[in-house]
Amino acid sequence: MFPAVSMAESRPRVWVSQPLFDDIVGRLAAHFDVRSTGEVTEHSPQAIADALRECAGALITLNERIGAREIAAAASLRAIANVGVGYNNLDVAALTQAGIVATNTPDVLTETTADFGFALLMATARRVTEAERWLREGQWQQWSFSTLLGADLHGSTLGIVGMGRIGQGIARRARGFDMRVLYHNRSRLPDAVEQECGARYAGFDEVFAQADHVVLVLPYSPQVHHLVDAAALAKMKPTATLVNIARGGIVDEIALADALANGRLAAAGLDVYEGEPAVRPELLALRNVVLTPHIASASLATRRAMVSLAVDNLIAALGEGPDAGNPPTPVNPDVLAAATIKTITAKRQGA
Ligand code: GLV
Repeated sequence: MFPAVSMAESRPRVWVSQPLFDDIVGRLAAHFDVRSTGEVTEHSPQAIADALRECAGALITLNERIGAREIAAAASLRAIANVGVGYNNLDVAALTQAGIVATNTPDVLTETTADFGFALLMATARRVTEAERWLREGQWQQWSFSTLLGADLHGSTLGIVGMGRIGQGIARRARGFDMRVLYHNRSRLPDAVEQECGARYAGFDEVFAQADHVVLVLPYSPQVHHLVDAAALAKMKPTATLVNIARGGIVDEIALADALANGRLAAAGLDVYEGEPAVRPELLALRNVVLTPHIASASLATRRAMVSLAVDNLIAALGEGPDAGNPPTPVNPDVLAAATIKTITAKRQGA
């Protein structure tokens, strides 16, 4: 007699690395044996490798870095669904080489993130959080004409570095503020898109020199590490502001703190940090920087939509559900054809 095998044991196992929305993640249970993480956890590389070892797939967040080391012992791993549009936490080359499909969550967060980019820009230029802190500290003894003077957005020049979907969303918002928009991007956008966004393509140096406000929205890669360094900051007007909603590693934070402390830049708004969740004491000590904890996409509806898309991706990438074999938003689509064959073979073998 064979020992009885439960449904759960016979199904592919997936790992969910952080608590997300239970009602959405619960959809995975219709197809897989789900191993969830009950509390927000900082997983070590070894813990990630251990969690992935027996899994066919994983639903992860940008807190989990997954590269060759984490997947080395994960012989059955076929899909990683990242809850996030940026995926610099994934070594896509290593995943691709191992035949593992990677997916992300673009589009569903575009407008929410553009909203936040604009909110951070306004808070930075008009010194909103600095003013609130000042008031709460009891420093408002008398109304004065020259208290906390900031910079205008309307009529100013906005520089956008990284003109993907979110950058374009910020440009469209800027039109409503009568801003002149310059953008820099790996490639120039089609004329029709430039016109719709009311944006003009310019070189990186020109954007930095001309803009009254610069917003960074480009994806992180080693090629853009510390793209905004002391030299780039030195090109900016001393009255200008810099906003980063991309990734921390794009800005040399020491050089930024130095420019802010020494009056070479008026203010900065940062939602992302090189060593997050740690924030450099040099930045924490400054009044002219607005600091938020990586929340640009954090509206309830959008965070739910991101998890839902990631769940759809994982189900489909593992050959289940209505889109079996066709996850909506793959990062390495080249793997898909090969992965589909692998999935079908694995299913036939009852894996
Ligand atoms: C957030 O930073 C994301 O990439 O979705």
